[in-house]
Amino acid sequence: MLSIPYRKKTQLIGEKMETIFKDIRKWFNDYYNSCVSTDGKKYNLLILKLEHSIKVGNHAKAISEDEEWPAFEVDVAETLGLLHDVGRFSQLVEFGTFSDAYSINHGERGYSDVRSSGVLQQLPQEIQTILLNGIRFHNARRIPDDLDKASTRFLKLIRDADKLDIFRIIHKAVHQKSTERQPEIILHVDINGPVNPAALSELENRQNVSYRNIKSLADFGLMQLSWIYDLNYRYSFKYFSDHGIFANIIDILPSNPDVMNAIDAVANYLSSKQSA
Ligand SMILES: [Fe+2]
Repeated sequence: MLSIPYRKKTQLIGEKMETIFKDIRKWFNDYYNSCVSTDGKKYNLLILKLEHSIKVGNHAKAISEDEEWPAFEVDVAETLGLLHDVGRFSQLVEFGTFSDAYSINHGERGYSDVRSSGVLQQLPQEIQTILLNGIRFHNARRIPDDLDKASTRFLKLIRDADKLDIFRIIHKAVHQKSTERQPEIILHVDINGPVNPAALSELENRQNVSYRNIKSLADFGLMQLSWIYDLNYRYSFKYFSDHGIFANIIDILPSNPDVMNAIDAVANYLSSKQSA
């Protein structure tokens, strides 16, 4: 839980909070509109990210409610969900890609855009820090060790919420074969390519599969499996199981013995988390 000074401050500005969050949503919409492109392909990808931002906000809200966080923190969580990928918009406009490796780190871009906009200034400093750290590190390979407790709590939440919606996006894209029209969604990887042993090895070691090791759609599946080891909250494990996500991921993986062993290990981990 957050410190007492933080709670006092939030009580002081309690009535204003709704207006502040409304202002942030308006800033987000204006920012998005300033990036909208007349290029049809970019337009569709921007819409995809807009939809993702809203859905991640919904997941963030659901996780924080499931954890029974105070109502104010639920609002912060939902706002973080909306803002977490704001760097994606200018990334696509400027570089024409969602690949951080070939452009910029979109977490850093979002952090600097939101920070320099001043849109968070009406919030208590502690909340600004939570939101900025959440945006900045939502896509980091690991959670930094030196963050304050509150930032870490919200960062774990946004990383879960983000993953839950990315599972949906990838499944939808593969299922509807839109990866052929929009290969950007899966970073232009080879749809029918083999598993990269380096990606499999990361999964076996319970590490997040690195983007640099993703060469095929199968590797993308391995990366999604590796994310299960990085989930934090009860709601996320439950959502993962209740929505058939595991089966969807296995569907895009080849059934060779090494991959099957890795899948079994993830399945065991998942059931241990649910019975915990
Ligand atoms: Fe992101």
